[in-house]
Amino acid sequence: MDSVGDYISKHKPRVLDELFNLLKIPSVSADSAFSQDVLDAAEAVAKSLTEAGCDTVEVCETQGYPIVFAEKIIDTGLPTVLVYGHYDVQPPDPVELWHSPPFEPVVRQTELHPDGAIFARGASDDKGQMFMHVKALEFMVQNDLLPCNVKFMIEGEEEVGSESLGKFVKENHEKLANDIILISDTGMIANDVPSITTGLRGLSYVEVEVTGPNRDLHSGLYGGAVANPINILTKMIASLHDDNNHITIPGFYDKVEELTREERDAMAQAPFDISAYQQALDIDAVYGETSYSTNERNSIRPTLDVNGIWGGYTGEGAKTVIPSKAYAKISMRLVPNQDWNEITELFTRHFQSIAPEGVRVRVTPHHGGQSYVTPIDSKGYQAASKAFEATFGKIPVPKRNGGSIPIVPLFEDELGSKSILMGFGLDSNAIHSPNEHLAVWNFLKGIETIPYFYKYFTELSS
Ligand code: BES
Ligand code: MN
Ligand code: MN
Repeated sequence: MDSVGDYISKHKPRVLDELFNLLKIPSVSADSAFSQDVLDAAEAVAKSLTEAGCDTVEVCETQGYPIVFAEKIIDTGLPTVLVYGHYDVQPPDPVELWHSPPFEPVVRQTELHPDGAIFARGASDDKGQMFMHVKALEFMVQNDLLPCNVKFMIEGEEEVGSESLGKFVKENHEKLANDIILISDTGMIANDVPSITTGLRGLSYVEVEVTGPNRDLHSGLYGGAVANPINILTKMIASLHDDNNHITIPGFYDKVEELTREERDAMAQAPFDISAYQQALDIDAVYGETSYSTNERNSIRPTLDVNGIWGGYTGEGAKTVIPSKAYAKISMRLVPNQDWNEITELFTRHFQSIAPEGVRVRVTPHHGGQSYVTPIDSKGYQAASKAFEATFGKIPVPKRNGGSIPIVPLFEDELGSKSILMGFGLDSNAIHSPNEHLAVWNFLKGIETIPYFYKYFTELSS
């Protein structure tokens, strides 16, 4: 399939232009001000799948944002690959920290990518990576190289918990029947160290509210005599980790999968440069749970982090006030065998129990999901490994990732199929941050690699 490289270089300007048109649509699922744009993005994805050569393309209504479903069935006797991705993106804020507007994609050189990277919200997570699959299909169809059946399922609520997709999957087992699910919504270690994601962490996301007096009070008249909800909230949050950075919620670690020394030693083989890591983040030291390495802390260990905290006066100047309420958003990343509903329960019970007299505490669960692991001896993993080897010239390293795609374990429960997480992004892509980008090289390499997955998966399945 050498021709894939030629095809891509010949069509590169058009393909980039098409991706740019998709990136220009501000499909922010978290913010209802963008709801029409999210719907427009679904239509744009559907159109691109029709143009790529799918036989059926549907924009399936849900209670939330639509799911774009498409398929090209060439022979029911052949295997079926189901591609999953998402067309929604994270909010772009803080917008003032972007060097170019988040929804006006541009190619700029960076130190790491002298050949250029595409800067836009969604460039890596996940429009750019999802679009690699659309273009890989176009290539296979145009060159008569599609070796099996393909289905696409592209959703618009991944960044807000995939609620509609969960329902859609439960109700459409037959429509979604497949032999393997293929996803590019993760990253690799580095362009010269290709890797395949073999695990994702689970997630429990909660919001807490601490209420003190029934109104904001003068901090001189009442200060010292009533509980200040912000003082209390920060004290409660601080108590959730001990001096070793272990989480103090009773029962939190009870089910955590402990890896064997051999497994941990194997993980430690993956190339990792701690000083480059610190330098890239401009920190003088890493931080975390005692007795675990950085790569263990961010993949095989559970965490608890405050994502946002607010209350009281935050405007210009000084206002002397004891606020009535304080709030925080807290996420817990979970590892195999921890159940997210159970962890949400444990958190809620514990957080209520540590509240002192004089305040009321409310915990509201948001979304969540289970963790996921996949073996490396499966046909799917082997096909992905051979595909990377074909285009990167190196056997990829298996690596568990710290992020979450809660719908992936649900696919396994509902459809009985494993997902192969063949991501082409990099941790340095700044997903969810200002200046998100994807190197042009990675985008094209993804398009080049994907057809090999189809080829090897079909060969290994016959
Ligand atoms: N694509 C990411 C998850 C990801 C990125 C996994 C890189 C591994 C490597 C996905 O879009 C995402 O952001 N997921 C959320 C969870 C979701 C429920 C909001 C996350 O991990 O915070
Ligand atoms: Mn994503
Ligand atoms: Mn994301």
